[in-house]
Amino acid sequence: MKIKTNLAILASGNGSNFEAITKAIKKGSLGVSHCILITDKKNSFVRKRAKKYQIKDIFIDPKKFKNRRGFDKKLIQTLNEEKINIIALAGYMRILSPFFVKHFKNKILNIHPSLLPSFAGNNAIADAYNYGVKVTGVTIHFVSQKVDQGPIIAQTAIPIEDNMQLNELEEKIHKAEHLLYPKVLKMFLIK
Ligand code: GAR
Repeated sequence: MKIKTNLAILASGNGSNFEAITKAIKKGSLGVSHCILITDKKNSFVRKRAKKYQIKDIFIDPKKFKNRRGFDKKLIQTLNEEKINIIALAGYMRILSPFFVKHFKNKILNIHPSLLPSFAGNNAIADAYNYGVKVTGVTIHFVSQKVDQGPIIAQTAIPIEDNMQLNELEEKIHKAEHLLYPKVLKMFLIK
């Protein structure tokens, strides 16, 4: 019997990557049977996008838990209830506990807006720009217990041309993300 692919997208903010993945799912090109959004931010814009695409949207309030492990236990319970077997982090700004990562070993993917291992952290586009590197990009990697250090699956390089403004670079990075994430998920999910 073929195991169904049930994908959870975890996101905290704008959700443009969530939308790019959702569009690919709706086209039927990722082979996903069931998709949900989980967010830790009540008023995040990604929730509006979920509504637009009729994706089940679950908000888990971090304030209700004493620590990260408690929050992550609730996360695992929710993912199990929804029979989720693949997780895509898309601008999810909470660090996952080692307990969570171990539970879903090699089942969690993350997108990061730099060429890892350079410019890890939450300000990667501006950090690369301000450092003055001539090439930056996008990375998709497995999530491991060390933040932004899991095995790399795919990268897109983006040159930073002379006189390029930060907002132009941001735009190029996001465009590249929206192409790369659905492509990698397709590669990963349709064997
Ligand atoms: C994306 O650029 C993603 O790579 C980044 O957050 C943005 C979310 O945008 N993630 C990180 O920086 C993780 N450290 P989105 O909400 O529009 O998809």
